Amino acid sequence: MADRPVAWITGASSGLGSEFARQLAARGYDLVLIARRRERLEQLARQLSVHCELIRSDLTLRSEQEILAQRLSQEPRLALLVNNAGFGTTRLFWEAELQGQLAMHELHVMAAVRLTHAALNNLVRQGQGGIINVASVAAFARSPANVSYCATKAWMLAFSEGLALELRARKSPVKVQALCPGFTYTEFHDVMGVDRNAVPRSWWMQAEEVVRASLEGLDRGQVCVIPGWRYRFLVAVLTKLPFALRMILQANSPHTRGRL
Ligand SMILES: NC(=O)c1ccc[n+]([C@@H]2O[C@H](COP(=O)([O-])OP(=O)(O)OC[C@H]3O[C@@H](n4cnc5c(N)ncnc54)[C@H](OP(=O)(O)O)[C@@H]3O)[C@@H](O)[C@H]2O)c1
Repeated sequence: MADRPVAWITGASSGLGSEFARQLAARGYDLVLIARRRERLEQLARQLSVHCELIRSDLTLRSEQEILAQRLSQEPRLALLVNNAGFGTTRLFWEAELQGQLAMHELHVMAAVRLTHAALNNLVRQGQGGIINVASVAAFARSPANVSYCATKAWMLAFSEGLALELRARKSPVKVQALCPGFTYTEFHDVMGVDRNAVPRSWWMQAEEVVRASLEGLDRGQVCVIPGWRYRFLVAVLTKLPFALRMILQANSPHTRGRL
């Protein structure tokens, strides 16, 4: 329908991105779904009763980031951008392939910068809408064999918080959120080849509850959303500890030891 709001979702071919698509469709958004696996986007679109445009794109490539940003800045019904595409690492920074580390920074940082810049110019002009940056609880912690992941997710959190302040300074109603989930059942850990059993069951969340918390948080204008009381408690404690104590705990956490 010509008057429906449109949401753009990166990394919509699985996990949290697909779930954002389902919940935003139920809220009446038309969708632009982006990922490399087009057949997975087609499968998802067939399940949804709203208009879906599918874009096959590798967002680690600057040329593709620029094409999407150009389109995004001119999307007439743009209401929401979800910067969700992402992946994790499993090796020590200097032992891992540099190419993979650079690709992660391109995807988590540079793609988010280009798409957010284009989307915000559009949304601020319209005086409505929002951006959700899918960060992680890793934004609040550091762990060996996960260095670039934690660093890029911490950047996403700082970026979102800063943008929210700029929008408030301009009294713009446009909202920005950093979503910081903990362990969530998606394909994320399969892609990394990590055994889910290394983490106790009670710490795992469903994509459905993570996305619901994000969208309800966006309705309230919440800038940082951490789904699940366990993770909110963990972050509250971790961020209050002295630096030296945090270093000791992070070096000895079961999650860290399992990776080395
Ligand atoms: N699952 C967790 O425990 C967890 C926890 C905290 C934060 N997160 C964050 O949540 C976000 C979504 O991850 P997920 O858990 O839903 O994992 P997932 O099921 O593996 O989904 C990742 C999505 O990102 C897309 N993607 C990866 N590389 C891409 C590229 N170069 N270009 C375009 N799209 C790309 C994938 O699509 P294609 O492969 O089809 O391109 C896929 O749709 C990520 O940013 C992740 O860091 C996840």
